[in-house]
Amino acid sequence: MFNDILTMRINEELDKSKKKQVYNNIKTIQSPQGRYITINNQKFLNLCSNNYLGLANDKDIIKSAIESISKYGIGNGAVRSISGTMQIHLDFESRLAHFKGVQDVLVVQSGYQANVTLLPTIISDNDCIISDELNHASIIDAIKLSKGKKYIYKHKDIDDLEKQIKIAEEEIEGIKLIITDGVFSMDGDIADLKEIVKLKKKYANIYIAVDDAHGEGVLGKHGRGLVDHLSVQNDIDFEIGTLSKAFGIAGGFIGGKKEVIDYLRQRSRPFLFSTGLDIAMCGAGIKAIDILEGNDDLINKLWMNTIYFQKKLIDLGFDLGNTQTPITPIITKSESKATIMSQKLFEQNILVSPIIYPTVPKNTGRIRLMISAKHTKKDLDNAIEIITKIGQELELI
Ligand SMILES: Cc1ncc(COP(=O)(O)O)c(C=O)c1O
Repeated sequence: MFNDILTMRINEELDKSKKKQVYNNIKTIQSPQGRYITINNQKFLNLCSNNYLGLANDKDIIKSAIESISKYGIGNGAVRSISGTMQIHLDFESRLAHFKGVQDVLVVQSGYQANVTLLPTIISDNDCIISDELNHASIIDAIKLSKGKKYIYKHKDIDDLEKQIKIAEEEIEGIKLIITDGVFSMDGDIADLKEIVKLKKKYANIYIAVDDAHGEGVLGKHGRGLVDHLSVQNDIDFEIGTLSKAFGIAGGFIGGKKEVIDYLRQRSRPFLFSTGLDIAMCGAGIKAIDILEGNDDLINKLWMNTIYFQKKLIDLGFDLGNTQTPITPIITKSESKATIMSQKLFEQNILVSPIIYPTVPKNTGRIRLMISAKHTKKDLDNAIEIITKIGQELELI
């Protein structure tokens, strides 16, 4: 047993988490991702993954990944700025830029990395970032790494956003970057980009960045995302995305003007000092775009499943908050009800995630159900039947 100061502190924290029953016993998945997954050698209905279109185990995507590593090898050998920019990085970037309808794209290792690559590189100490209070942790961390001043506006509150812009105008000489999730990951609601764009036109030196991790592959023509869905392409300066959700793979990207992406290649520290996206992911990503552009069957099925499932739950009396997307929170308010509900569902071989404080504000506990194009009507009906019984036991309906 170690008894140095750090080990003692860590043990104390771990014990506290266990006593409060918030210690995360991370589950091991023994099968590929799919509508069913195997845990402890048992089959579970998967209502918990971001694999919206079921592409995480798509045979054509796997084949494309294998072909790319057969051609280019498994390793990049160096950071991209030295000798690790492979032809397939550029092929993928130009394919993604075309898909997103932006001048250029930089692909990076994850969605998290995309925020950390963009914000500290473009924001200097005379600038500021104005951020929705419910933005994703990767945005919050990227803001911490940047030199600019930060202003937080109340969730989707355009009046408060304007108030923060006015305060920033008094205090800041440089640029004001408004950043928002496209789809908010814990609630499933959508940023009011059209209203944000109006403010950009009203005030000077405003730029807008949208992190559309949960909108890519879900919203817009062929899944091009929220910016396309709301037709505000000309007024959004930066589109940040992830490949780890609807694309079914891993990686992230930043889309924008050619000069800005070029600048990121010259100056961003994560690009200069960390080896780039896997070759296999570049090959996989190109095929994922082919699939998205090929036809809209998967996206249509995702939305049909979503509408079917959410309508049934609402009719039964469940509170789904303000969701506008396949992210389906069942609001339990009480943290313990969220935890109990997810445990009871687990006992019935359904995997969902309980979302409690501090991930969401106190007394807004929920379980979060994630719909996929691969779920069948029978899967959803079975889940609804079990959720109803548990909901009644917990007096949620
Ligand atoms: C808005 C947002 N940005 C970034 C990320 C991180 O993406 P990745 O898992 O690719 O790092 C997520 C993932 O949950 C997200 O919801």
